[in-house]
Amino acid sequence: MSNREGTPKFPDSYIGDKSVEYDNSKWMERNQKKSTLLCLQYLRDDKLDNLGTHNILNGNHYIIVDLGCGSGFSSEILVENGHRVIGIDILIDMLSKAKTKKKISENKKNIELILADINFLPLKETSINHIISISAYNFIIYGTETIRDKFKTVNNTAMHLKKILKPKGRIVIEFYPKDEKELELFTSSFKNNGFDGFIIKKNPAQKAGQTYLLLKKR
Ligand SMILES: C[S@@+](CC[C@H](N)C(=O)[O-])C[C@H]1O[C@@H](n2cnc3c(N)ncnc32)[C@H](O)[C@@H]1O
Repeated sequence: MSNREGTPKFPDSYIGDKSVEYDNSKWMERNQKKSTLLCLQYLRDDKLDNLGTHNILNGNHYIIVDLGCGSGFSSEILVENGHRVIGIDILIDMLSKAKTKKKISENKKNIELILADINFLPLKETSINHIISISAYNFIIYGTETIRDKFKTVNNTAMHLKKILKPKGRIVIEFYPKDEKELELFTSSFKNNGFDGFIIKKNPAQKAGQTYLLLKKR
């Protein structure tokens, strides 16, 4: 999610004082939680069913992975909605703040927070119902230089996400690809690795407009 100062930078915007600033921002909390609620709604989107075999989520509670869970605003909403959550983040400065969140510490049996890289998830095959990611997935190509490296990273990760999902698993990603070319790189990685889906753009004319990727395992 863009903040009031502009586009966040990984890792600088999420370490040391910046991580404290992030976690104390009511504006950020409100926006992350609002986006998470929308992701939960999109997980149930009927249009995903027209893309393949019929599959309507029925209000059950699921095992949901929160990729790039940060300081836990999104994970709190998932737990509050009765889901079992696995929050993944690569930075201890962010993850340690998630651990102290009231709703998270009160719900320890329903939430696991893991310090790990989205690109190398320590999760078993077909163990997860659904995946969400809020304002983090664009960072998975951090550190890659060439288009070939970026391609390899996004494809390997999409392939791995397919493996950890149970049949009919869904993914909803809210993220900030830097341009249309980068958006295509991400969307094609999912299409090429066993997912159907589509994009929803919210307020595309605005700088802070959000891009959502809605995906279903084929
Ligand atoms: C904007 S924050 C996410 C906020 C989160 N949704 C929340 O509710 O607080 C982006 C997060 O993505 C994490 N991140 C970036 N690259 C990552 C990677 N490769 N693996 C895991 N986490 C990553 C960052 O450490 C940061 O905490």
